[in-house]
Amino acid sequence: MWVKCAKLFVFCYYIYMKKRLLSGIQPSGAIHIGNYFGAIKQFVDLQDQYESFIFIADLHAITTVQNKEELSANILDTAIDYLACGLDPEKVCLYQQSDIPEVAELTWYFNCITTMPFLERATAYKDANQKAKEVNVGLFDYPILMASDILIQNADIVPVGQDQKQHIEYTRDIAQKFNKIFGEVFILPEPLISRNVSIVPGIDGRKMSKSYKNTIPLFGTDEEIKKAVMKIITDSKTPEEEKDPDSCNIFALHKLFLKENELEKLRKRYLNGGLGYKESKEILLTEIISFISPLRKKKEFYKNNPDKVIEILKKGAIKARAQAQEKMKIIRDKIGVNI
Ligand code: TRP
Repeated sequence: MWVKCAKLFVFCYYIYMKKRLLSGIQPSGAIHIGNYFGAIKQFVDLQDQYESFIFIADLHAITTVQNKEELSANILDTAIDYLACGLDPEKVCLYQQSDIPEVAELTWYFNCITTMPFLERATAYKDANQKAKEVNVGLFDYPILMASDILIQNADIVPVGQDQKQHIEYTRDIAQKFNKIFGEVFILPEPLISRNVSIVPGIDGRKMSKSYKNTIPLFGTDEEIKKAVMKIITDSKTPEEEKDPDSCNIFALHKLFLKENELEKLRKRYLNGGLGYKESKEILLTEIISFISPLRKKKEFYKNNPDKVIEILKKGAIKARAQAQEKMKIIRDKIGVNI
């Protein structure tokens, strides 16, 4: 009896003490190997350690995707892909951003205390402004919506890629400004930019990214994956020649899939000569396909059971929204709209 009580106590203490992690994912269509090793894997690895909130950033997506069929298909597919990659809905609160309308309300309050020059300094906006003829207000406001996502849930830790680091700095600035004007409400989140998360090179050696068209799809068919792998750019050394593994794009990808000792063996084969790039690509292809085969099975399951996916998202939204509403009561009170 006492042992049971003690165990329960330790369990509750552990849950209570767990820090809260939150991150958003843009629903932007088919995911690739770079997405997996650059972000998804990290969420899966951290789901035991933190109380995790992961959401599909569909409100952010509307800044670029303005087509009903495309957006709704992308939302569902993204949820399916993340579940297939191992996000456990029992451990992670997975939800759709638009199911928490309080986030949009908070964005408005933050808009009112944020200046235009502050947002004009955001690098994402500057880049977009250079490329697009006319940037929409939503895109301009992107960092504020992101601050609302994070601050409304009292997140301690936000795992993001290097490119999102400035957004977390913005979030902290906005939280501080609000606290100063209206009183202490928000905690300041920390970015988590894991050093273990490698920059995954694409088939041309640049960072794997949809915009560079250099990706290897994670859930492609064997044929599609093969096509991408065979296109990996190498130098023109013959199979007999000695090769430098550290400057080889194929070898950089082997690093993601092979265990240390297997990688060492392959490294020796590179250095000794006798291993052609074609053979190295074939080995890589086998590694990728055996790695994804259990993920494919899970994906099949969720694809055939979209109701189950929607149920997971709705259950997540209930929890996330309840928290957001509680926070919103305090925020409205501080602002003075509660009379
Ligand atoms: N901007 C993020 C990206 O493009 C997605 C995102 C939206 C997000 N809201 C967030 C990430 C809040 C972390 C926290 O990847």
